[in-house]
Amino acid sequence: MQQNPTRTVIIDTDPGIDDAVAILLALKSAEFDVKGITTVAGNIGIATTTRNAGRILALEGRNDVPVIAGATGPLSRKGFDTADIHGNDGLGGVAFPDPLAAPAGNDAVAWLRETLDTADAGSIAILALGPLTNIARLVQEHPDAAKRIGRVIAMGGAVYEPGNIGPRSEFNIAADPEAAEIVFDAGLEMTLIPLDVTRKVRATRDDTAMLQNTGVPAAVASGALIDAYFQSTTGGESRPLHDPCVMLLALDEALFGCETLKLSVDTGTTRDAGALSVDETGSSVSVALKVESAAVLKLLYERLSAE
Ligand code: RIB
Ligand code: CA
Repeated sequence: MQQNPTRTVIIDTDPGIDDAVAILLALKSAEFDVKGITTVAGNIGIATTTRNAGRILALEGRNDVPVIAGATGPLSRKGFDTADIHGNDGLGGVAFPDPLAAPAGNDAVAWLRETLDTADAGSIAILALGPLTNIARLVQEHPDAAKRIGRVIAMGGAVYEPGNIGPRSEFNIAADPEAAEIVFDAGLEMTLIPLDVTRKVRATRDDTAMLQNTGVPAAVASGALIDAYFQSTTGGESRPLHDPCVMLLALDEALFGCETLKLSVDTGTTRDAGALSVDETGSSVSVALKVESAAVLKLLYERLSAE
């Protein structure tokens, strides 16, 4: 694996089972200096996503990483409730400690602006694991600060694949299509990782057993989280690991294949709201369409299992 320099990252997230595995991967990877976690309503309400960010950090004893609560809902729509997938606690009922500290704030956009304004321009990457509401509000309210973002890597969308919340729409984009349109059109250096790739990165029951047998907290919790995913969803002998793909691409981009596409977002009110189309009127976004699945899974499990 190419050695990446340590990079300062902000994780924007709606934990969420797969968010939790992704956050644990980041915390177990020395390449990431996690500056903070901003939360957004998505898989479940903001109070629960915020509490869960604190619980995940507590599992790793990371009271050095602040959690800042963000958007309580999409810019202009009603959000979805996916408690049936992520459980009423948002973490599939998996045991996590209580947060080590209260959230550091409840205005993620103000915190993002302040953090970006005081850091070297381009030095911070945002790893986006949920609806893009917080980032869209930053672009709208503080465009100069948004321009200081080094890179956004986001899980979202479905390009040539069917959707998972509508026939053509994926959850993170469909939860707030207006936010996605604003972020895609903002001229940021952006890489989108859609279902076209994340559905190829799949964990089996053997993987979850292996992780839990390590006795390493991050691996044990990740194995239990994915097992909960097996319980709450249908889909044969494996389950896709959507959000961890964001951290995996940041760790070793050579394991992914990206191409720049002009993407338009359906901001209508049909079941296609949030669907992505490739057309000349769209915004240029780098989109991951290929992945070396076995290699990224190996990297994920190695990092989670490291003592
Ligand atoms: O479509 C998958 C995405 O929606 C993931 O981020 C998952 O956590 C849910 O938020
Ligand atoms: Ca998520």
